Amino acid sequence: MKNGIRPNINEMPGYVPGEQPQAGTFIKLNTNECPYLPSSRIADACMEVIQRGLNRYPDPMAGTFRKAASEVVGVPPEYIMAGNGSDDILTILTRTFVGENETLRLPYPSYILYKSLAQIQNAKSEEIPFDSDWNLTPNFSAPTPDLKLVYLPNPNSPSGTRLTRAQIAELADALPCPLVVDEAYADFADENCATLVLERKDIIVTRTMSKAYGLAGLRFGYVIAHPDLIQQFVKVKDSYNCDALSIAAASAAISDREWFTETTGKIRKTRDWMRPELEKLGFHTVQSHANFIWCTQAGWDLKSIYLQLKEQNIFVRYMVYDKWQDGGCGLRISIGTDEESRILLERLAAILGK
Ligand SMILES: Cc1ncc(COP(=O)(O)O)c(C=O)c1O
Repeated sequence: MKNGIRPNINEMPGYVPGEQPQAGTFIKLNTNECPYLPSSRIADACMEVIQRGLNRYPDPMAGTFRKAASEVVGVPPEYIMAGNGSDDILTILTRTFVGENETLRLPYPSYILYKSLAQIQNAKSEEIPFDSDWNLTPNFSAPTPDLKLVYLPNPNSPSGTRLTRAQIAELADALPCPLVVDEAYADFADENCATLVLERKDIIVTRTMSKAYGLAGLRFGYVIAHPDLIQQFVKVKDSYNCDALSIAAASAAISDREWFTETTGKIRKTRDWMRPELEKLGFHTVQSHANFIWCTQAGWDLKSIYLQLKEQNIFVRYMVYDKWQDGGCGLRISIGTDEESRILLERLAAILGK
């Protein structure tokens, strides 16, 4: 049939986002959102924009946000470009660097979207498995002829594990192409790579406001990179990829350092309390530097546990990485409030007969 669709689009499965139930009461621990409401400064910031009127186009470069983020990140505003969620940024980067039949590399298991972005470009993707302790193997830094871009979520999803800043710099030294460090979860870690971009053009850092700032519903992310690269990304992005309300809200949110420190502190505390509790129930876990915990147990039917929780309106993410060890099944459990976490543990104990 001649439907005009490019064959690579016809053939690709398409990225499937996590479940987003819209009605009812539930405990939602499946897409790593913040369990707390965002900074109260957002409402005033948005109201001001509404009162000024939405009849004009927004600032194409989201200058207010660039300035606010620059103070937090520690790089000049010209090193920052905003996007409609960090997925928008990842799309822009892939379109900028990776052409048809060229190669994009990602670790496995990691964020599945990178592979879909390669498929949209009709490019190849190389999934390089982590070793059993979630370390990268030498294959990950090996140069190959068509390699144009490497993605590394740090901390990684679904594991929550991370490479140090020094390891990232070493990896970038070894690679023949730019390295994108996807720092969607770095706000929950002790270290990040943002200021490495001041010294080098081969590292690009992406961030999101969806997780640590509690703004998943707003859609706002940003890239931190050398201004020469930012100028190229600007050519690829939609002219007005962020709207006036989201620019105002994201700028207010990133400037509220008190809210940020308190909220990420609470989430990290709950995370560090949850891990031994999950282990006591019999799950195998790894130390997480993010706002979720990856739980596995080779002998258990994890899908059934996920489904039983879902019947009780508790959503966790059941993930299958079938090319990974032990069939690659696991439950990725986002960190909720202490109360949500206690309820989850109680329900898990009941399901497991403990
Ligand atoms: C590793 C990673 N990068 C990027 C994103 C996308 O975040 P955003 O909501 O900013 O598009 C996610 C979302 O789950 C993620 O897990």
